[in-house]
Amino acid sequence: MSTITLREYRPGDFRRLCEIDRRCFEPRVAYEVWEMASILRRAGAVTLVAENARGAVVAFVAAHRQKEGKGHIVTLDVLPGYRGRGVGWRLMRLCEKRLAAVGIGTLRLETSVNNRAAQALYRSLGYTFLKRVPRYYPNGEDGWILEKRLVRA
Ligand SMILES: CC(C)(COP(=O)(O)OP(=O)(O)OC[C@H]1O[C@@H](n2cnc3c(N)ncnc32)[C@H](O)[C@@H]1OP(=O)(O)O)[C@@H](O)C(=O)NCCC(=O)NCCS
Repeated sequence: MSTITLREYRPGDFRRLCEIDRRCFEPRVAYEVWEMASILRRAGAVTLVAENARGAVVAFVAAHRQKEGKGHIVTLDVLPGYRGRGVGWRLMRLCEKRLAAVGIGTLRLETSVNNRAAQALYRSLGYTFLKRVPRYYPNGEDGWILEKRLVRA
């Protein structure tokens, strides 16, 4: 297993992140290129990537800082060949740490009711399942809204 390193997003990663998102989500759910651009350049965006030993980006997490100490995980994407190795967990933990350091106290995210892997990951990270939203996703799937209170290190 090659070493996976986490680092900050750089603009040169943009195309690769779009490609990873298309490989992680079905076409109706994956972000369009313009949506991804607006997510990553938004003020208060926190985007971290994971790269393999050859320097290829294989996963990323994108989050936003919102008002009054609230944050939102917009997406977490790990390429299929790199799943089940703790990459998603590491990206989430570092992202939470970065957000807590800038005063974010509560973090929210959404996941499909059918996404067992993501639910297990978020449960292991201490997220609480707040409510189920019917037809939350463009493909008609219901979503769960999850929340976690962050502790400043
Ligand atoms: C969900 C996703 C991000 C998980 O990433 P990952 O790097 O494979 O997850 P990790 O290896 O860090 O797993 C951490 C924990 O999550 C849980 N988990 C992850 N994948 C799982 C699976 N397929 N089944 C059950 N539990 C799983 C486990 O609790 C695991 O801990 P463990 O390895 O000690 O058992 C990844 O599957 C993915 O990118 N899927 C497609 C995109 C997506 O669904 N993103 C989330 C949208 S909300």
